[in-house]
Amino acid sequence: MTGASGAVFGVRTLQALREAGAETHLVVSKWGQQTLEHETTTTLAELRGLATHHYSAGDFGAAISSGSFGVDAMVIVPCSMRSLAAIAQGMGHNLVHRAADVMLKEGLPLVLVPRETPLNAIHLENMLKLSRLGVTMLPPVPAFYNHPKTLDDVIDHVVARILDQLGIGADFARRWDGQMRRPGKVVPFDDGE
Ligand SMILES: Cc1cc2nc3c(=O)[nH]c(=O)nc-3n(C[C@H](O)[C@H](O)[C@H](O)COP(=O)(O)O)c2cc1C
Repeated sequence: MTGASGAVFGVRTLQALREAGAETHLVVSKWGQQTLEHETTTTLAELRGLATHHYSAGDFGAAISSGSFGVDAMVIVPCSMRSLAAIAQGMGHNLVHRAADVMLKEGLPLVLVPRETPLNAIHLENMLKLSRLGVTMLPPVPAFYNHPKTLDDVIDHVVARILDQLGIGADFARRWDGQMRRPGKVVPFDDGE
């Protein structure tokens, strides 16, 4: 987790991975901790309690700092523009960046949940560069086709999409079922003429 707004997405992702029985290795950057404490009621200790293993952001000796350790996938949620840039440039300042660099060099799945708005050209170029390297860009964009009623519904939808990328089924969010509301009023397809 890094210092972009939306720490709750990271908390909920970790909870969902725990519920799914996944082994998790948590790293929270310094500003990831600051935003966690500012935006949520979850403490760093509580967050760490959700993970199987946790490391400080300065711990380059951690297991996940080496490709030889072997992980299935990595998610950065939320991902700040600073961490996005560091990863895109291969200039790792902390264990989050180093672990992401390992994913890239090993050709393993890396999912970023970048959060900023509006996006400038540097942000977009960094995302494009990483996307071309096979990194999944999954901004925490709400959907409305599933008629969310609460903020939890919105958050769960994003987290379910993250788990989809990891190949982990999530049954806590409603999926699109192909059923349009008011089907009788659907206009037959035409080409606009
Ligand atoms: C409350 C708060 C919200 C922030 N929101 C964002 C954000 O949405 N996106 C972003 O890129 N940076 C955001 N920042 C700035 C980052 O925390 C800052 O750039 C930091 O250096 C990121 O470092 P990290 O990537 O190592 O966590 C925010 C900072 C604070 C204090």
